[in-house]
Amino acid sequence: MNLSKYLSAIQEADLYKRYGKVQRVVGIMIESVGPAANIGEVCYIHPTINQQRQPVLAEVVGFNNEKIILMPYNEVSEIGPGCLVESTGKPLTVKVGRSLIGNVIDSLGLPLDGSELPKGLSNYLTEQSPPNPMARPTISEPNQVGVKAIDSILTVGKGQRIGLFAGSGVGKSTLLGMIARNSKADINVIALIGERGREVREFIEKDLGQEGLKKSIVVVATSDQPALMRIKGAYTATAICEYFRDLGYNVNLMMDSVTRVAMAQREVGLATGEPPTTKGYTPSVFSILPKLLERTGTNKYGAITAFYTVLVDGDDMNEPIADTVRGILDGHFVMDRKLAEQGQYPAINILKSISRVMNQIVTTEHLDLAQQARSLLAKYEENKDLIQIGAYKRGTDHEIDKAILYQPKLQTFLKQGVLDKFSLEEAIEHLKLVLNGGS
Ligand SMILES: Nc1ncnc2c1ncn2[C@@H]1O[C@H](COP(=O)(O)OP(=O)(O)O)[C@@H](O)[C@H]1O
Ligand SMILES: [Mg+2]
Repeated sequence: MNLSKYLSAIQEADLYKRYGKVQRVVGIMIESVGPAANIGEVCYIHPTINQQRQPVLAEVVGFNNEKIILMPYNEVSEIGPGCLVESTGKPLTVKVGRSLIGNVIDSLGLPLDGSELPKGLSNYLTEQSPPNPMARPTISEPNQVGVKAIDSILTVGKGQRIGLFAGSGVGKSTLLGMIARNSKADINVIALIGERGREVREFIEKDLGQEGLKKSIVVVATSDQPALMRIKGAYTATAICEYFRDLGYNVNLMMDSVTRVAMAQREVGLATGEPPTTKGYTPSVFSILPKLLERTGTNKYGAITAFYTVLVDGDDMNEPIADTVRGILDGHFVMDRKLAEQGQYPAINILKSISRVMNQIVTTEHLDLAQQARSLLAKYEENKDLIQIGAYKRGTDHEIDKAILYQPKLQTFLKQGVLDKFSLEEAIEHLKLVLNGGS
């Protein structure tokens, strides 16, 4: 047996543990003198007061002269001056593998219910670089989501990244649950960031259900968790997708919500002394968003189709986060409170929404049907005020007459009950029937 490899590894091994010492705690930041560590490295802080306690995990987020600035992943109370700080020498990793499917985990990759992780998982870095743009295959195939309105008129491609813009209570979680259950993707990774604890449970039990959970991994960082955990939730979920993409899987990522990730980054930014800019968001918010959102999409092995929800108050699509995210992604679906109030679910406003890759992934017949539907809806919308106050006289304009005739049929077509499931082919057939005078 050739032992030389092992012998040299032993000779080169660094057997010293290097510690630093906590000097100051300001708000959520911990300043320590040493150890030598890079930004993003994970450190253990050993409590001195109660030796029995587990060490606290923290990440290096900055430097101040000779001191390193750490931010703990969890709430801490037993840190005092002089506590020892030990560097792990590595950024955050999580355990990933096929046996993780069906589990609900936290941002550090640990089961949320406190149980043991399944066996056979390997370590995976949560921060990765986006695939090289030149090595990304173009999006060429549709990815069925099982929601008629989307599959027929806003077809999503395998590896497309979509923003779901909506206020609260208009049906985001319900829609994501439907997609997770009905989609043809091999696996769903669902990141619930900044939601309240009650909403998380409701989503998993009601919206996702047993059927959805069987082919999903859910990553949860609730609103009460420290900002860093909420940010890491987004990274962990993205990393899990990347792991499966490299195995050739067709993965769906659903991140609800990317606005809450941006808010968490703002909290960290302000705490580390960044200046606030637009709407109080710090520059780092606008630098991490593209880095995070570019990681999904296609690479040479597989594809991550991503749905990022963006919270918009009222209809303010020009709010800085909404504006930035929309610029990065390949499409946006707008969910409209007015539609929800009318019971028109899923409350997707077709005319305000677009799938930027649809043209290149569907047949000409399908595209033609979608355009017909869109122009009928647009014609009605343009003349809606006149029609509704009764100022429009039938027979004046052939196009408007047609739009009025088709409006209720299209509305019925676009509606879908939470438990209804349609394949992409069924959605197209159905739309064809509606446009050809059926119902
Ligand atoms: N497809 C649907 N069919 C019927 N009702 C729906 C549908 N989607 C959403 N709803 C209603 O809207 C409510 C809020 O939806 P939810 O998904 O929790 O919104 P959000 O996640 O945007 O806050 C649900 O409790 C349900 O009553
Ligand atoms: Mg919700």
